[in-house]
Amino acid sequence: LKHELDEPQAAADDLEHALSADPGLSGAPVAPAEARRLLARWRLEAGQAERARLGLSELLRQGADPEASWLLSRALLQQGDAAGSIAAQAKAGRYASEREPTAFDASPYAGSAKCAQCHADIYRGQQSSRHARTLYEAKDLGSLPLPQGPLPDPAEPGITHIFTHKNDTVRVETRARDKIYRALVEYALGSGDRGLTLVGRDTDGTPRVLRLSLYAGGTAWDLTPAVEPHPTDPKGYVGRPLNDEALRLCLDCHLTSMHALRHRSSPEASDHGIGCERCHGPARNHVQAMELALADPAIARPRLASAEQVVKVCARCHDSDDPSLPESDPRFVRFQTTTMIRSRCYTESEGGLSCLTCHNPHRNAETAAAHYESRCLACHGSGKGEVAVQNHPRWTGRATLPKGRKPVLCPVNATKGCIACHMPTVKNVAPHTDFTNHQIRVHRSVGGG
Ligand code: HEC
Ligand code: HEC
Ligand code: HEC
Ligand code: HEC
Ligand code: HEC
Ligand code: HEC
Ligand code: HEC
Repeated sequence: LKHELDEPQAAADDLEHALSADPGLSGAPVAPAEARRLLARWRLEAGQAERARLGLSELLRQGADPEASWLLSRALLQQGDAAGSIAAQAKAGRYASEREPTAFDASPYAGSAKCAQCHADIYRGQQSSRHARTLYEAKDLGSLPLPQGPLPDPAEPGITHIFTHKNDTVRVETRARDKIYRALVEYALGSGDRGLTLVGRDTDGTPRVLRLSLYAGGTAWDLTPAVEPHPTDPKGYVGRPLNDEALRLCLDCHLTSMHALRHRSSPEASDHGIGCERCHGPARNHVQAMELALADPAIARPRLASAEQVVKVCARCHDSDDPSLPESDPRFVRFQTTTMIRSRCYTESEGGLSCLTCHNPHRNAETAAAHYESRCLACHGSGKGEVAVQNHPRWTGRATLPKGRKPVLCPVNATKGCIACHMPTVKNVAPHTDFTNHQIRVHRSVGGG
């Protein structure tokens, strides 16, 4: 449903058109009732509660339909009818109570700024984290750090690059011998902590990943990976061409919603980079539900999710998108959700380990090894067999062994140094950029093992 969430109203209009032309939807891959539920969902995502309500009422006249009742509870919620919403939700029965806790509500966006009102601490932490700084759009380009004066190309003598700020635009001019190639920067991806890459359009309007990126916390301009120009594309000296679909993919992993890119008046368009609703789903229903003091918060609740479901939320962006990339390729370690789940710590702890065992999703990664080692020791310490970092129903920091399983201790060092030996840093995966190998195991190349 990714594209529908980007353009719910357009998707709904198309589907409604198809349904009115042929109510039986002959030959379509979905049954008419399923299509009507989808239509109502998209109307709700577009905030068109009354149209959703009318369609659902018609559907419910034909008989009980738990999903339609749940959707109706959302339409009534959006219309401020608390009692009606509760009654409809009761009719949804197990459909409502058994939805995956990470599933998105059928709601329009509210924008991260709205969350500050009631979740001030989480908001402050998240907004200063790198998730929220991993994309510069037009509105942010004015603050992009640029090199002063012409920059000699790091690989080819005789080529120079000149970057200039003008109002809120950034222009790049690449001089290659007697030729000049130009591009206008549209986005910069990455917070700049590990790297920041510029994406722009050349004078023909072709999107390009620009040749130079900023690395090492903003201290070094160097080549973007895989950016060598093709012999038939001299403009390649300004950057590697990218098609619009590939550009879409880049942006999709670095912001809250693609919807906001096309609908600048939508509230989440003021988010910086990845905002709250990327993981919690569009949340205008939630704000309404809390204002009406309803028991159901009407939002995705990853704190109630299983380890596997949590990993899936992160895997939307942290997973390898290239199944042909062999494990021996150094870039393999970039994909923490691909590597971590291969660890026996994950496969044999029966849901006791997830990304949240070691990371707070609203903060940057901790840098102290002791933070992580306390997690290792929860399962590999000389405890009594059942250990938890925090005996708390919420996920935060949970690290548990299956009931009755005895902790296995390290024969080399059972008290410290775990990360350096079992989750080693892999240097220069990209220029100037290191990653942590998230496959927790005995790495024969390190620590004398
Ligand atoms: C009008 C106040 C209000 C606003 C605005 C608000 N929330 Fe909430 N939210 C609450 C209350 C109250 C709770 C329930 C108590 C709690 O867990 O803090 C809650 C709970 C949550 C939960 C936890 C649900 C669970 O039980 O695990 C999430 C996630 C959440 N809010 C996200 C958001 C996001 C994202 C936004 C911004 C789009 C937002 N909230 C805006 C009041 C609000
Ligand atoms: C499948 C999701 C996904 C796509 C597609 C994607 N990125 Fe990223 N990007 C990430 C994640 C996750 C990180 C966090 C660091 C990491 O683990 O690599 C990241 C980090 C970065 C960084 C910071 C430096 C670094 O290596 O950590 C830059 C720069 C960047 N991406 C640029 C791009 C550009 C340019 C494109 C398109 C050509 C792109 N990304 C496409 C998910 C994605
Ligand atoms: C990268 C994904 C991600 C983003 C972005 C994100 N969250 Fe969360 N959020 C989570 C996960 C995962 C949990 C469950 C954490 C746990 O149980 O330890 C969570 C839990 C919560 C909770 C319930 C936890 C509690 O302590 O009550 C609230 C409230 C919340 N988030 C609000 C927000 C707000 C507000 C924002 C934006 C400022 C935001 N989240 C951004 C993933 C995210
Ligand atoms: C929408 C895509 C997306 C999702 C979903 C996402 N991430 Fe990220 N994450 C990124 C990108 C992009 C970066 C790179 C930030 C930067 O530019 O430095 C990143 C960086 C990080 C970092 C490194 C932060 C630092 O200190 O530099 C951690 C840790 C992380 N993510 C954990 C998570 C976890 C845990 C989840 C799931 C709860 C998650 N992410 C979900 C895209 C995503
Ligand atoms: C949630 C519990 C849990 C946590 C947290 C955990 N592990 Fe494990 N780990 C396990 C289980 C279960 C096994 C399987 C071995 C056994 O218990 O028989 C295992 C296996 C291992 C192995 C052997 C791997 C192999 O391929 O044979 C190593 C090494 C290891 N863990 C190191 C660590 C380190 C280092 C940390 C912290 C970074 C850590 N573990 C965190 C549960 C955990
Ligand atoms: C057992 C602990 C542990 C678990 C579980 C864990 N991480 Fe990490 N993670 C680390 C450590 C250690 C670092 C390095 C922190 C530092 O010193 O900067 C790290 C760093 C990162 C980074 C920064 C880039 C890098 O590779 O150094 C990202 C992104 C990240 N983790 C994502 C995830 C995601 C997504 C998951 C779940 C699949 C996850 N982590 C699970 C320990 C863990
Ligand atoms: C100096 C490097 C080093 C340090 C530090 C270290 N380990 Fe190990 N660890 C190893 C090596 C090497 C092995 C494999 C030993 C063997 O096969 O004889 C191992 C094995 C293990 C095993 C598997 C044991 C088994 O019987 O299958 C676990 C679990 C483990 N380590 C956890 C940890 C934890 C937790 C820490 C931190 C408290 C830690 N290690 C610190 C190098 C190290």
